[in-house]
Amino acid sequence: MTQTPRPVTPTTILARELSEIADLLDAGNGATDELITRVHRARDLAAGLDPYLDTCTTPQSAALATLASRTRTEDWRSRDVVSGSGPLEMEMLSGHVEGRFLAFLVHMTGAKRVLEIGMFTGYSALAMAEALPAGGEVVACEVDPYVAEFARSCFADSPAGSSITVEVGPALDTLRRLDGTFDLVFVDADKTGYRAYVEHLLGSELLADNAVIAVDNTLLQGQPYSERPTENGRAVAEFNEYVANDPRVEQVLVPLRDGVTLIRRT
Ligand SMILES: C[S@@+](CC[C@H](N)C(=O)[O-])C[C@H]1O[C@@H](n2cnc3c(N)ncnc32)[C@H](O)[C@@H]1O
Repeated sequence: MTQTPRPVTPTTILARELSEIADLLDAGNGATDELITRVHRARDLAAGLDPYLDTCTTPQSAALATLASRTRTEDWRSRDVVSGSGPLEMEMLSGHVEGRFLAFLVHMTGAKRVLEIGMFTGYSALAMAEALPAGGEVVACEVDPYVAEFARSCFADSPAGSSITVEVGPALDTLRRLDGTFDLVFVDADKTGYRAYVEHLLGSELLADNAVIAVDNTLLQGQPYSERPTENGRAVAEFNEYVANDPRVEQVLVPLRDGVTLIRRT
């Protein structure tokens, strides 16, 4: 007999709590003490997760902390936007836990050459650069000249910053003229361009034999599996389906932050 597994992870416990709370409310139950307690428990499960991940992750470097702080104090709303992913905003920055995750990928893959598609103020580029061996390089693509200059000025304050080359312009144009191979690629630019970037990489000579492609925001706020996706949500859903059906690759979607899919050629 097939058994339904009991919820044993934060998200599955949260889903069960919310489902049972919704059933109680649908049945006309008012705000009983039990219901209020369960709503609080659900809130604590959700709200406590990210801060706990921060606590359990090796702290960021001083240079990354400064870059993040400079990004938070910049007035992005007053900026003219060249970005293809809409207005620049401080929330674009990946941050501490994802930065450490990317640094781990650099270590685990033994990457010497890393490509980033979508740099913003450079947090992920610098996090990966800090993990490179001597002589390693990050090539970071960014379409917006202002934010590219902002990142360059942050890199100038860090020893690892000198191993980052910034390529300004639409990423697909940059990919077409890049030379050599990359061991790790981090895709984090306009969501509607994801498929073109990964298709280009897989069809090009840019990937080293055991290269790993990490693609950010593949959960896109839950939109790919929720009822009302935006244009970006639809683009990510289509991208995820494309990757799942491409026989050339294997992939895993890691529910870190807004979702990171790791892809490698088989
Ligand atoms: C989510 S942010 C990147 C965040 C960064 N990776 C980090 O971890 O802090 C996306 C960036 O991609 C850039 N972008 C959007 N469309 C692009 C394109 N066609 N070519 C290059 N960069 C692009 C945007 O200007 C923005 O700075």
